[in-house]
Amino acid sequence: MSKNICFIDGLEGILKYREIDVNELVDLPYDAISYLLIQGELPGEQELAEYSARLRGERKIDGRVVDVIRMCNFDIDAMEALRTIVSFMSQFDPDLNDNSPEGNMRKAVRLIARIPTIVATYYRMANGKEPITPDPALSHGANFLYMIRGSKPDALEAEILEKDFILSAEHELNASTFSSRITASTLSDLYSAIVSGLCTLKGPLHGGARTEVMTMLEEVACPENAEEFVLGKIERREKIMGFGHRVYKTYDPRGKIFKQLAKELAETKGDMHWYETAEAIENVAIRELVEKKGKPIYPNVDFYSGVIYKYMEIPPQLATSIFAIGRVSGWIAHCFDQYERKKIIRPRAFMLDEC
Ligand SMILES: CC(C)(COP(=O)(O)OP(=O)(O)OC[C@H]1O[C@@H](n2cnc3c(N)ncnc32)[C@H](O)[C@@H]1OP(=O)(O)O)[C@@H](O)C(=O)NCCC(=O)NCCS
Repeated sequence: MSKNICFIDGLEGILKYREIDVNELVDLPYDAISYLLIQGELPGEQELAEYSARLRGERKIDGRVVDVIRMCNFDIDAMEALRTIVSFMSQFDPDLNDNSPEGNMRKAVRLIARIPTIVATYYRMANGKEPITPDPALSHGANFLYMIRGSKPDALEAEILEKDFILSAEHELNASTFSSRITASTLSDLYSAIVSGLCTLKGPLHGGARTEVMTMLEEVACPENAEEFVLGKIERREKIMGFGHRVYKTYDPRGKIFKQLAKELAETKGDMHWYETAEAIENVAIRELVEKKGKPIYPNVDFYSGVIYKYMEIPPQLATSIFAIGRVSGWIAHCFDQYERKKIIRPRAFMLDEC
């Protein structure tokens, strides 16, 4: 069953959700992809309308949760706050201890719907502004941008963020999904499993790489500096963030789509600066690492998505938590699969040497 949630061919650069290539899924609404991952098949028109209505109806967060967000240290990365708040929020969920499929589905809908509201509320407060009430008329992506900015986003930006959520939604047994599954395998509740995923996603070798990419773009500043920057990294044996992948030994298929979207956004804005800076880094890195050293190290999901965030003026402190907004549907799909198995995951220590 779990094999069906996601399929990756790391040599050919193929990614499928529930046996459908992501290139065929990326133009659909995020809600449809969330349904696909969790229910196993794409929703029909009526099913999508009902699922979207459920998600849109659950976006608001409890006043007590808002009060705790107000007490956060706003100098920290939004992931620190998100992890704490999701954990805090569980105690107000009437289905907390209902581990039936129906109870878990109700919690799943609340988690998917409310995580964007938590991130946006934290961001607004960190900037001395009052939170924006979610708008049920807007899509997942458009509503998130509306909640952080306080004004309705333009159609292209909303569409690109929706695609970002889709491309971040699922990636087989990556580190954070594995964490979530381990927690679910003990038959602990869904909130605990999602908090485990959040804790793991924040690391710089995983979801945190997107934040590092944005910081790197600032540091490199312009295409002319890319050569010296990349050569310096390689000489010091430091990693170039947003490059390389444990499974892909070719260009990450999500990276390819993000590159195209970043170009489209840059052209629409009439500002190629960040795109050209990123492309210059990519060209030098591929020349040095792939062509000269023969290492299969190409841009991954985090590289051009970082460029997109620069154009959308999303601060680096939000980058990983936006990844989490998309990924939560994938974590939940895996947790549901794990609950059905009713079997604890218990690897042996010698297996660590193979990781
Ligand atoms: C993703 C990642 C953790 C995969 O790691 P891995 O499969 O364990 O690969 P390794 O770290 O063992 O690297 C293998 C070789 O490639 C090199 N390499 C891997 N990623 C590199 C990168 N981003 N920049 C430069 N060199 C890199 C390593 O230095 C190593 O070289 P060596 O054999 O001479 O020692 C790794 O590529 C990385 O740290 N990338 C940067 C962080 C990132 O973007 N993470 C998001 C992943 S979606």
